[in-house]
Amino acid sequence: MRRYVIAGNWKMNMTPNSAKALIEEMKPLVAGKDNCDVVLCVPAIDIPAAIEATAGSNIKIGAENVHFKASGAYTGEISADMLVEAGVEYVVIGHSERRQYFAETDQTVNLRTLAALNAGLKAIVCVGETLEQRELGYTETLLKFQTKMALTNVTAEQMKNVIIAYEPVWAIGTGVTATADQADEGNGYVRAAVAEMFGDEIAEATVVQYGGSMNDKNAAELLSKPNVDGGLIGGASLVAAKFAAIVDAAQ
Ligand code: 13P
Repeated sequence: MRRYVIAGNWKMNMTPNSAKALIEEMKPLVAGKDNCDVVLCVPAIDIPAAIEATAGSNIKIGAENVHFKASGAYTGEISADMLVEAGVEYVVIGHSERRQYFAETDQTVNLRTLAALNAGLKAIVCVGETLEQRELGYTETLLKFQTKMALTNVTAEQMKNVIIAYEPVWAIGTGVTATADQADEGNGYVRAAVAEMFGDEIAEATVVQYGGSMNDKNAAELLSKPNVDGGLIGGASLVAAKFAAIVDAAQ
């Protein structure tokens, strides 16, 4: 009953022109791969070019962050309504890089999630433990806490537009992928937290992605696990053939 969602997160890569070129290369490779939703989350400045390049294709565009206020004196920030009007459908919230480098907290992740959902965006909410937290035995506690904090005051109805990405911090950009069993276990903790908040039916319907060095080689095994409903892909989403191979693995 869950649909795979394969989403690229370009991070701070690609200018508008290179974004257009990469999307043109990807479009034919992912066309007709209708067993999953295909999403590219791109830098804000690339959004108009990406929306134009993906028109009429099966690729949806996401942003990489959203501010929680509707408007006002927040220099440099972008509101949910601005994203919606630009044609954006998804937004990544609470990525570990934003938590690590830009003072993102569980509270601001929650506020951003609410702002995105209230504007009709689909929120891709990121959670994940550091290596130190894992070694101390706190993975389950932390993933459940981050998930519950992020989803505070979200309604059962809005959960249809929530995707949660389990991204172990130690696996991001390191080339170290969680084993398929570790990914399944982490995603399972996230789903259990959703069940504790919203009940089993909503938990079973919620898409939980894995992210962290997912690539064309390991995607099939990761996606074969019962709790892994897709991927949030960094480095490999910058290479058309690799991203397309991950989309293929979700067919
Ligand atoms: P990599 O796929 O480059 O490890 O990045 C994962 C990630 O952070 C996606 O949001």
